[in-house]
Amino acid sequence: MNGAPPGQPLPSVPDEVPGIPVLAASGPVLLFGGCYSNLQATRALLAEARRLGIPASRTVCTGDVVAYGADAAATVALVRDAGIHVVMGNCEEALGTSAADCGCGFAEGSACDRLSEAWYRHADASLGAEARAWMRGLPRRIDLLIAGRRLAIVHGSPERISAFVFAATPDDEVERQLALAGTDGVAGGHCGVPFSRVLGGRLWHNAGAVGMPANDGTARGWFSVLRPEGRHLRVEHLPLDYDHAAPPQRCARLPCPSPMRRRWRRGCGPAATSFPRPSWHSGGGGWSRGR
Ligand SMILES: [Fe+2]
Repeated sequence: MNGAPPGQPLPSVPDEVPGIPVLAASGPVLLFGGCYSNLQATRALLAEARRLGIPASRTVCTGDVVAYGADAAATVALVRDAGIHVVMGNCEEALGTSAADCGCGFAEGSACDRLSEAWYRHADASLGAEARAWMRGLPRRIDLLIAGRRLAIVHGSPERISAFVFAATPDDEVERQLALAGTDGVAGGHCGVPFSRVLGGRLWHNAGAVGMPANDGTARGWFSVLRPEGRHLRVEHLPLDYDHAAPPQRCARLPCPSPMRRRWRRGCGPAATSFPRPSWHSGGGGWSRGR
């Protein structure tokens, strides 16, 4: 995606917005999301960050540290100890406030709704008061300044923490969300599928999820690295290989639903029947904007 058309007039966001931390990066930034209580995948992601030489100060999680897997408390502890930046996901919002459910917004009675009910009960029973307080204190948005651009890092969308934005979401809706952010681009999570789109010179990016397959027929997770190259920003979608046999084995000893264990092995996520396949994730691309 080199040579994207020149962008619209630059949006104007004050340098400092109350409640929105700003991260200024002069080097590569590692983005990931969706640990989903998958301790093995989260360990592998942090090891990959070390291998790539990207420090915690330039590593950002887009939320949902806890969900489908067996190791809710251990995964939270691992992420906290890593000292990375974390944006609040709907799972952190729900568990942090002891809500009745995860707030994913799945249709009542659907397969995803039933699966979510099961993991949420397990996670809710696993987490202590300190972990919940940490979740409540997470920012809902972090603005990243990189390669002369400002990107809003959120969980769902700038408008709603549990909004699903996919590669196939209509352009006008994505453009509306980009305008709401008031930035050069948005990096979101929640849907668990990696993709990047450039609309009107602005970027919508999703790093995917590390803790659950991306419906691509493999058991891998996905993350991304944003590399500043002068005024050019290179976006790399990267696969995460890890011991994917371990999460279902851990879940087998817990009251997790068996279909979720099979999905780890088959390479399909929790909503494989309704989520689109990932796009533009096999390699990466650049995002250039004329000035
Ligand atoms: Fe989410």
